[in-house]
Amino acid sequence: MILGLETSCDETAAALISPDGTILANVVSSQADLHARYGGVVPEVASRRHLELVTPVIREALGEARAGLDDVELIGVTAGPGLIGALLVGVSAAKAIAWARRLPLAPVDHLHGHVASLYLEPDPLEPPFLCLLASGGHTLLLDVQERGSPPRALGTTLDDAAGEAFDKGARLLGLAYPGGAEIDRLAREGDAEAFEFPVARVPGLDFSFSGLKTALLYAVRGLEPDELERRRADLAASYQRAIVRALVERTRQAAEEIGAGTVAVVGGVAANSELRAALPGAVPAPLELCTDNAAMIASAARFIEPVSYPGYLALDAYASSA
Ligand code: KG4
Ligand code: ZN
Repeated sequence: MILGLETSCDETAAALISPDGTILANVVSSQADLHARYGGVVPEVASRRHLELVTPVIREALGEARAGLDDVELIGVTAGPGLIGALLVGVSAAKAIAWARRLPLAPVDHLHGHVASLYLEPDPLEPPFLCLLASGGHTLLLDVQERGSPPRALGTTLDDAAGEAFDKGARLLGLAYPGGAEIDRLAREGDAEAFEFPVARVPGLDFSFSGLKTALLYAVRGLEPDELERRRADLAASYQRAIVRALVERTRQAAEEIGAGTVAVVGGVAANSELRAALPGAVPAPLELCTDNAAMIASAARFIEPVSYPGYLALDAYASSA
């Protein structure tokens, strides 16, 4: 079986999958509560917590799969992009286990991991497809031709990522971190037509969300505290509608431009109920695999050339893709 490790941001995650992509264990320990009081992830705090959690989380995954390290044939670990200190914890743990057992190690790109969440059983997706990847750190339209080769980026965000727009909007509305799920929940009680939040139209297939956040800031500032309290759900619904509209519009446009037969949606924002409903016919990642997890990293590890023992001892983590 394949052991996957993910520590790029504020989830410490370990998973075991079979080579055919059946999930045997998928353990995610979120640090969200730890960072909530700061309104965002504090990198140094995240690294320290990863260090405390990585071994127990791996143990728990092995227990869940009723397996031991002897059953592991390959280790896949997120090597980047992400918080460098956080990534190093996962990479070091992966190196140590792989080295001790002379196992091969596959350094996985986090974004390819999100795409590979679509390749797991019981409903694996076969390329080609157009993939909208919307997370806290990235917003990308990807032309996926093969499972093993890096996809071509057709469009990206020029400023904030879609998940970042959700998180910053939630903060302005006084909701807890991380804000995407909070806005999603509150929006169901609100009127999405109540406020007009335009999303900037940038040329090509790119996105821009920073103006939207400013529009929400002004709307919030324009309300008296009691009025804000009463209209919070309307603000959340209208704000979410604007983000979803921008994502759907660009995704449709990209699908048309490349003649994509299949459209898929992955990443934390793919968990959004309005986005999932607004793209009928599209293939969303399974709900539990949208936000960061290690099953998707183990899945991606199957499609890249692993580094054999002991070559990976020199392997480094990277903070950004560029
Ligand atoms: O993929 P992910 O777990 O981490 C990154 O790679 O960034 O994505 C996290 C992002 C956060 O910004 C979070 O607010 C957002 O996904 N998110 C959502 C929902 N659930 C998580 N955004 C909108 N609606 C949701 N239901
Ligand atoms: Zn992610």
